[in-house]
Amino acid sequence: MTNRKIGVIGAGTMGNGIAHVFAQGGFDVVLQDLEDSFVARGMATIDKNLQRGVDKGRMTAEEKAEVLGRIQSTTNLDDLAGCGLVVEAVIEKLEIKTELFKKLDALLDENAIIASNTSSISITKLAAATNRPDKFIGMHFMNPVPVMKLVEIIRGIATSDETYKAVADMTAELGKTGVEVNDYPGFISNRILLPMINEAIYALYEGVATAEAIDSVMKLGMNHPMGPLTLADFIGLDTCLFIMRVLHEGLGDSKYRPCPLLVKMVDAGWLGRKSGKGFYDYK
Ligand code: CAA
Repeated sequence: MTNRKIGVIGAGTMGNGIAHVFAQGGFDVVLQDLEDSFVARGMATIDKNLQRGVDKGRMTAEEKAEVLGRIQSTTNLDDLAGCGLVVEAVIEKLEIKTELFKKLDALLDENAIIASNTSSISITKLAAATNRPDKFIGMHFMNPVPVMKLVEIIRGIATSDETYKAVADMTAELGKTGVEVNDYPGFISNRILLPMINEAIYALYEGVATAEAIDSVMKLGMNHPMGPLTLADFIGLDTCLFIMRVLHEGLGDSKYRPCPLLVKMVDAGWLGRKSGKGFYDYK
């Protein structure tokens, strides 16, 4: 793609990571969020994560400054006009995303591509909010974005081959590995990961073992970097529940029913690391 100006909407955990890797990959980035404090927090996280590379000797302080200099932060959506690709990473609410895509569709050049980092909402459904479903695609990054190699590239029913190729080429330029996936609930990553996490929660709920024991089995026995309950806390229990509901409704199979303990913890506001309490305590 010749236009190397990339828009990222949402400066939260995923959005700031996405802005980070595009800027590090040599792209000019416009990072947008609703409030100055959200944008400032996102930029501070990018600064901190780039500093890890400087501290480890993988990047000089000058290179870090160049990467940061390629990111323009803003609260004004209009600043995304002229971007060749916009990646959306806002809250997982269908109405909020579709409203945003309608605005973007009107704002962007007709050749611009719109990508969503949604972890489970249908790309086909999101694309239908625009007049460019052929130029709409899923770009699902993994957390922490600067570390994880994978980008699931999800083709909606109308995504064109040109759009897929442009996004796959850019993903490779970021040093990531893109995997082509068709649009079905949970794509590949969450179709497999979330039922595993849900099953770990059932094991805890049924008293098979403690949270620590369940995590130890998967870490030491299967070489997972984090046990499933630690990972659930890392992802956010509200996000885990949301994805299980998408699988349950979208695939219509009772094997995807969310564990009642997961529902109860989310009701209590125990959302994992971000709330200070989940399967473990983070206070
Ligand atoms: N940003 C940048 N770098 C980071 C980072 C971050 N947020 N977090 C960790 N790192 C770097 C560290 O600097 C370190 O770098 P070096 O190897 O150069 O030293 C490296 O990552 C490893 O970090 P740590 O030594 O601090 O800790 P660790 O070895 O325990 O690794 C981890 C941390 C990478 C998070 C690892 O535990 C892991 O891979 N966990 C599983 C993560 C996972 O499954 N992610 C997918 C979640 S699902 C998802 O995102 C999709 C969805 O839709 C729900």
